[in-house]
Amino acid sequence: MLNDGNLIRVAVLISGGGTNLQAIIDASNNNELPSCEIVLVISNKKDAYGLKRAENVQIKTEVLKDENQILNALDENMIDMVVLAGFLKILSKDFVKRFQNRIINIHPSLIPSFCGKGAYGIKVHEMALSYGVKVTGATVHYVNEIADGGKIIFQKAVEVKEDDTPERLQKRVMQQAEWVILPKAVEFVAKKILNTRLNGGKSFE
Ligand code: GRF
Repeated sequence: MLNDGNLIRVAVLISGGGTNLQAIIDASNNNELPSCEIVLVISNKKDAYGLKRAENVQIKTEVLKDENQILNALDENMIDMVVLAGFLKILSKDFVKRFQNRIINIHPSLIPSFCGKGAYGIKVHEMALSYGVKVTGATVHYVNEIADGGKIIFQKAVEVKEDDTPERLQKRVMQQAEWVILPKAVEFVAKKILNTRLNGGKSFE
């Protein structure tokens, strides 16, 4: 259910360090996300450092593992839009359907390369280096029932250097691509949802 407020209420789902969450928080604090507010951070891991990042700026946090508990928390907090930022659980078709075109994910490669089942975190960069690509990057896409299969929203390319290790490449992709396009995508999608609501439900591309 969409709340009838002015700003789009966003929940960010995490499982780890939360550097992408931090990029969203920083963008919001820099007034780069005028259409939305981050009102909830949910982690399926209680020791995720991203929870601390949220608490540091007084964003409500929940540690929930069960998908139904997550859905209840989203409803209770009148969430309009969900951002997966390093969230490592696979979501069911029902969950995705409930938030169709209102749930986005950041993936650390240029989809359709190095994505799909089992391709996550540092593994993605190991795959890119072993393939020998000269360019990689990051993708933000809508989430549908296929792993990393939803419509692409933004991508940003990053050069692979000769002496790259998976860790060095991961850091460069995060700094030069993920942390740049994810906040932009959050505002882009939130604005679309807001415009649709303000136009009585008709979506304008
Ligand atoms: C990032 O590399 C992101 O692309 C992937 O998981 C990692 C999460 O990192 N989905 P962080 O928790 O945002 O630091």
